[in-house]
Amino acid sequence: MDLKKYTEANRIAWNEAMPYHQKAKDGKFFKAFQAPGYSCLDEIVTEKLREIGLAGKDVAHLGCNDGRETLSLKNLGAGKCIGFDISDIAVEEARRLAETARVPCGFVRTDIYEIPEIYDNSFDLIFITIGFLPWLPDLKRFLKIASRLLRKSGILLIYDSHPFTQMFNSDKKDEPFIMTESYFRKEPWVENRSLDYYSNTPYEASTHYDFSYTLSDIINGLVSSHFEIIRFDEYDHDISLCYEYLQKAGPGMPLSYILVAGKK
Ligand SMILES: C[S@@+](CC[C@H](N)C(=O)[O-])C[C@H]1O[C@@H](n2cnc3c(N)ncnc32)[C@H](O)[C@@H]1O
Repeated sequence: MDLKKYTEANRIAWNEAMPYHQKAKDGKFFKAFQAPGYSCLDEIVTEKLREIGLAGKDVAHLGCNDGRETLSLKNLGAGKCIGFDISDIAVEEARRLAETARVPCGFVRTDIYEIPEIYDNSFDLIFITIGFLPWLPDLKRFLKIASRLLRKSGILLIYDSHPFTQMFNSDKKDEPFIMTESYFRKEPWVENRSLDYYSNTPYEASTHYDFSYTLSDIINGLVSSHFEIIRFDEYDHDISLCYEYLQKAGPGMPLSYILVAGKK
């Protein structure tokens, strides 16, 4: 598979999207991080991090975007925190945020498939949140890289939208909810729609690609990459800003999950 065809297109698309996000956020996190110890992470994942034990752990945050979650991990007591992201503009913003907030975190602009070997065996925890995995054209290859980055017995934590949500068209937010897409879709989504999920400003984005992975793809991928599943929890709350309408509908759909896996 020509990974670069996908990841380079996605880099361009994320660079286009960032100014819309920045406008919508209007410096929100620059202000919030003025408060010492501020964290934007919700109580559910914070509790999970407490259970794992975050204090002093060296963390790689993959797909860190603007760095707000990376800084939050540091403020919650992590050791070395490094965010990795393919978007030049996201990484610039993350560096500015860390500098302004005086929270010592490092940021590396890289395609996740090209993380330099110097980072191998360097982390106790890999942290991945909302909406990063669907940007990856090759899940198995990615999980092997994740394993490489971790020290022995290191932990990988994924907090993401439940793949079940992929069955709905996120543009159609009105009832009745119709499942239009296959849960088992294999081909990439080829899209030009706006990536501004903060303010939903419509704009014609350059072509970008995302991918559907089922829970079994993720769990079996981890097992094949020599991870053991430590904990898997599903939730009925939306963490994406895209599926709040499903949450409000109330029948208890699986909208997000946390998966904790350990490197054997
Ligand atoms: C939906 S955003 C979510 C990021 C983060 N969880 C957040 O909430 O801010 C996905 C991020 O993945 C990054 N990304 C996409 N493909 C990537 C790749 N191949 N390597 C590194 N980062 C990538 C994008 O630049 C973007 O910042």
